[in-house]
Amino acid sequence: MPKPIYSPNLHVYTDGQEVARAFADHLVKKLEEKAEGPFFWALSGGSTPKLLFKLLAAEYKDKIDWSRLHFFWGDDRMVPYDSPESNYGEVRTLLFKHVPVVEDQIHPVPTDLDPEAAAEAYAATITELLPQNSDGLPIFDLNMLGMGGDGHTASIFPDNMGLLTSDKICAVATHPESGQKRVTLTGPVIDASDEVVFLITGGSKTLRVAQIINREQLADTFPAAHIQPTSGELHWFLDRAAAHEVGY
Ligand code: 6PG
Repeated sequence: MPKPIYSPNLHVYTDGQEVARAFADHLVKKLEEKAEGPFFWALSGGSTPKLLFKLLAAEYKDKIDWSRLHFFWGDDRMVPYDSPESNYGEVRTLLFKHVPVVEDQIHPVPTDLDPEAAAEAYAATITELLPQNSDGLPIFDLNMLGMGGDGHTASIFPDNMGLLTSDKICAVATHPESGQKRVTLTGPVIDASDEVVFLITGGSKTLRVAQIINREQLADTFPAAHIQPTSGELHWFLDRAAAHEVGY
């Protein structure tokens, strides 16, 4: 089946909490659909995922077979795991401490290494554990992403659009303002996912969402606008504030 130019499935909810609940229920459904075997989930940082992790810890402990889940990150900052900046550290605190995950199935970016070595080691773990598609790219069952106000996603920023077409699995990225080093999945790996779900909430994203959904020319400069799974599905889970300019 040809890859669509762009076909996001929009899901609009009242607020961020409902977006989190919708995603949690969607995760349950995806696990039921993939009836057995490991489930490879790439998580993201950001404000909406925080709501999700708290909700999963509070209400989904007995609704999910946590032993099937392998946890990865679409990007992480090159900081110690106990840093408040660590996407992995955040999930450990908000979720892993509260549900029966399998420690050996948690695969954070090895931020104790230098950035290039961390990207290589992380790519090797992904390659070792995940099934591959016909292009030899690893397939995540579910890739959860956010979108920054500048249209970045994972740690693919507008000043480094080349990461959208990199032949690497992971790459070192630099935050354009802070200079912080990060490791990120590249565009082709994200697009190889069985499903990509963006969680986008808040009025600060309204304009960007409209520019991307309406395919305005400016959207070409936003990395998030270029994410379209090759054969998987693309879903945007939005709250009304973020979807306001596209008619909700
Ligand atoms: C990160 C995230 C990043 C995030 C966006 C959206 O490590 O910072 O992966 O890509 O998803 O910045 O963040 P908010 O949802 O908080 O706006």
